[in-house]
Amino acid sequence: MRQKIVAGNWKCNTTLQEGVELAKAVDAIVASEGADDVVVVLGTPFTHITKVVESVNTDRIGVAAQNCAAEAKGAFTGEVSAEMVKSTGAEYVILGHSERREYYGETSEILNKKVALALENGLTPIYCCGEALDIREAGTHNEYVVNQLEETVFQLSAEDFKKIVIAYEPIWAIGTGVTASSDQAQDMHANIRAAITAKFGEEVAEETSILYGGSCKASNANELFANKDVDGGLIGGASLKAEDFIGIINGF
Ligand code: G3P
Repeated sequence: MRQKIVAGNWKCNTTLQEGVELAKAVDAIVASEGADDVVVVLGTPFTHITKVVESVNTDRIGVAAQNCAAEAKGAFTGEVSAEMVKSTGAEYVILGHSERREYYGETSEILNKKVALALENGLTPIYCCGEALDIREAGTHNEYVVNQLEETVFQLSAEDFKKIVIAYEPIWAIGTGVTASSDQAQDMHANIRAAITAKFGEEVAEETSILYGGSCKASNANELFANKDVDGGLIGGASLKAEDFIGIINGF
């Protein structure tokens, strides 16, 4: 049975104090309301991870880094390795986000190194893919996204790929308030699942969680999550307020 997952991606937001309070608020609501077999993950800045891990019940709240280095260790000033992330108590790492690809030049080659190091250190990659508006308008979005996967996580063994969570995030929906329609999300998720089936077989495909990201809100989560191939969400802006984030979790 593949996992339902709702992961917050706080991006470059919150001070340490604000982040800990946000994490505690989410944890308290999940504790009181329950999350009905939904895996809840908080993707915090590096600086917050250990404190957030100490502040929540990690039996019900997972913590994610938003990146990790493409090198194992060494003279790479400012970088944070997968081993370091794991040592903080984080269980997940968001990789391949379009903002890192665009602003920090992350290529498939770099991402392959990051994914390998994340897996070697026992982290679960939440691996992002998604097309820009011009690709969507050209109608080549299905091929484009599958190619993103073929250049990276499809090169893994089946055993390793099974450890990956996929997040489809149409770039034109990220932070814009323009959410993909339910049909657009389902069509792309089905496209991704079909590609996984072709590559790794039906059993692996059926076990892979495919999350949607891009202006997912409490108001649209229910419709999005009702789709058979949408297994949850990777949430940006709406993860920065506990009640909004819980509203999305309750979308299942
Ligand atoms: O990684 C999630 C993020 O890219 C989506 O952002 O603000 O559109 O929910 P947002």
